[in-house]
Amino acid sequence: MTSPVVLQAIGLTKRFRDGPREVCPFRDLNLSVSTGETLAIVGPSGVGKSTLLQLLGGLDRPTSGEVQFQGAAFSTMTDTQRTELRNDAIGFVYQFHHLLGEFSALDNVAMPLWIRRMPRSIARQQAQAILARVGLADRLEHRPAQLSGGERQRVAIARALVTKPAVVLADEPTGNLDREAAGRVFDLLMEGVRNQSSALVVVTHDPALAARCDRRYEMSRPD
Ligand SMILES: Nc1ncnc2c1ncn2[C@@H]1O[C@H](COP(=O)(O)OP(=O)(O)OP(=O)(O)O)[C@@H](O)[C@H]1O
Ligand SMILES: [Mg+2]
Repeated sequence: MTSPVVLQAIGLTKRFRDGPREVCPFRDLNLSVSTGETLAIVGPSGVGKSTLLQLLGGLDRPTSGEVQFQGAAFSTMTDTQRTELRNDAIGFVYQFHHLLGEFSALDNVAMPLWIRRMPRSIARQQAQAILARVGLADRLEHRPAQLSGGERQRVAIARALVTKPAVVLADEPTGNLDREAAGRVFDLLMEGVRNQSSALVVVTHDPALAARCDRRYEMSRPD
């Protein structure tokens, strides 16, 4: 049985115009990811991996083509619908964690649940459970500045997973970690998405990590 497609890019083109200069990282790109599938995006620096992830998450608009989430094009949604969809169904992990510095690890992870109006005590319980799963049960009240780089990335992964999104988009989630820490953080991400059957699209420079995904999508410069 084939799994349903969660996210699909159809004929996706992105052009940035900066005065007379124009950068077109990709043209007519087609890509899809299905429920529970893990997909690695690989390719040299500047090829458009982060740009693609932004488009897949509905954070930016393509120049042409479209991104469909479970068959519905982002371009047909209102801003509110897009924001709600992102909060409900998409988890983001950024290269530099983007955690809120004033908040504890626990509150950073509980935040997406509060935004969904989940009662505070239940949100904190769920956040605590997922932080325990990524090995941070004894770091709940630490603020990001009091955590190591690998610990911060684990908090960011817990935050992306806590809402059990249909898809997790991760941009170099292990890019600033040493090899061993990167491997461990990547394991937690893979285990997390597999446990809850989320699809994963992960950008990585590391071929060994990319090889652990079900599929790889290689980006190269258009001529
Ligand atoms: N807002 C923008 N305005 C103009 N050009 C941009 C903008 N964002 C990205 N670009 C250009 O688009 C290209 C792709 O950038 P992107 O960040 O997607 O690359 P990347 O593959 O993620 O690279 P890296 O591996 O270094 O993170 C780059 O040449 C970049 O200069
Ligand atoms: Mg990038």
